[in-house]
Amino acid sequence: MQLSRSASFSLDTPSPLLILGAWEDKVLDGRLGEVDVKLGGAIADLQARGTFKAKKNQSVDLLTLGRLGARRVVLLGLGKEADASPEVLRQLAGRAAKAAVAHKEPAFVLVIPANPVASKDAGQAVAEGAALATWHFSAYRTEQDEPPVELGSIDVVAEEADATFEAGISEGLLIADAVRFSRNLVQAPPNEVTPTVLADRAAAMAKQVGLTCTVLDENQIADLKMGAFLGVAAGSRGAQPPRFIILEHRPDGATGDPLVLVGKGVTFDSGGISIKPADGMEKMKYDMAGGAAVIGAMQAIAALKLPVPVIGLVPATENMPSGSATHPGDVLTAMNGKTIEIVNTDAEGRLILADALAYATRYKPRGVVDLATLTGACVVALGQQAIGLLGNDQAWIDTVRAACERANERAWQLPLWKEYNDQIKSDIADMKNSGGRAAGTITAAAMLAKFAEDYNWAHLDIAGTAWEDKGRPYTPKGATGVGVRLLVELVRAHA
Ligand code: BES
Ligand code: MN
Ligand code: ZN
Repeated sequence: MQLSRSASFSLDTPSPLLILGAWEDKVLDGRLGEVDVKLGGAIADLQARGTFKAKKNQSVDLLTLGRLGARRVVLLGLGKEADASPEVLRQLAGRAAKAAVAHKEPAFVLVIPANPVASKDAGQAVAEGAALATWHFSAYRTEQDEPPVELGSIDVVAEEADATFEAGISEGLLIADAVRFSRNLVQAPPNEVTPTVLADRAAAMAKQVGLTCTVLDENQIADLKMGAFLGVAAGSRGAQPPRFIILEHRPDGATGDPLVLVGKGVTFDSGGISIKPADGMEKMKYDMAGGAAVIGAMQAIAALKLPVPVIGLVPATENMPSGSATHPGDVLTAMNGKTIEIVNTDAEGRLILADALAYATRYKPRGVVDLATLTGACVVALGQQAIGLLGNDQAWIDTVRAACERANERAWQLPLWKEYNDQIKSDIADMKNSGGRAAGTITAAAMLAKFAEDYNWAHLDIAGTAWEDKGRPYTPKGATGVGVRLLVELVRAHA
């Protein structure tokens, strides 16, 4: 997909498809007014009848019959201009790209109406929306009636924007590329993306963008005494070995302590001996979405050359039942020496993150964020609309939350009061790995907190947001790639 700003657009320029965004309170302003005149007042007529008022998510489709250069005009309602934001423009571009695909037009012109969004942010949002809306995963389809239309070139007309709009487009395309990479990793089946393959893909990406990638194998993980992580990998011993993926972005001249990003990389979560019900278990391939978000974010951070040292850590393993699997009742010792009684082998994410968070200490991080599809309880609490956010330092939590807002990957904070620790007290070890059903998202975070005591830490539970069931303006069904954009925003804020 090519996306560029059009400098010399006129309504007489021949094109198959012209798509215009329209503000509800300014339907006939600017280019839209000119189009209306050429169409003999057709848009004013639709507006007067109330058929098209440019309310958010309204749209009309008109054939121009030779009255202007474009063969077809699509109008997309945006709601009130007072509510303009990068997110509104991201959705506009996403809807436009999908309309073009629906009309089987690989090329189109998109007119962004005058708006108060800063030009660079607008360019970024438009590029992201178009590139993300048209993502599809068809690697395993051999019998397709109609191959999906791949977008060719989009000419964006944004007359009111200043020259930074173009820089925004370039950055938006790089970011979208990283989100698409992340989605592809998550969407691919678990017999393709094993821990080894996840590490290989991360290493190949690192080589391309100039990151340092180190992959630790089972022996090296054992040398580090990551007993909690290895306890989860035990069910796949001799079959699919774990990997500990380390990505380092250390740009020339950037000094200071790094930010550390940690992502849960369970490439398939069967539950282990505490096995999950069969219904829907196939979806547990997305249990590495946190890891994929970190890998994708590291790609974008390197491609954007953000002048901040950043480390990405992804413990990658399956969670499987077998004769070598961890039993409920086992006690595991994490790399920091803390002991964990396993009461439910399906609470595995917190075990692999425990060792990754303990490992993060060696970087003296300025701040750590982990992302994980950690608890079903988070889906119950917040649904698909918000990430669960917890942490040990309110200022750092606020910084992370602000980045989430800017990316429109919204997060909602839950309390992490010390009283919740009572639920994970063990009779024989320092803690147990499940606190039961009550406050499941919080007690999972309470366990993580015991491994993140040395630095400012925030935890993002993306169980509800990493997978989309219905499809949204620029988020098709399936893997969402959530986390990539918010992490880019977080690192940018430190540049
Ligand atoms: N990967 C799951 C959490 C999950 C559930 C993600 C549904 C997405 C959708 C996690 O490993 C898990 O199984 N958590 C358990 C914890 C429980 C055993 C304490 C859960 O949420 O049920
Ligand atoms: Mn589990
Ligand atoms: Zn899991």
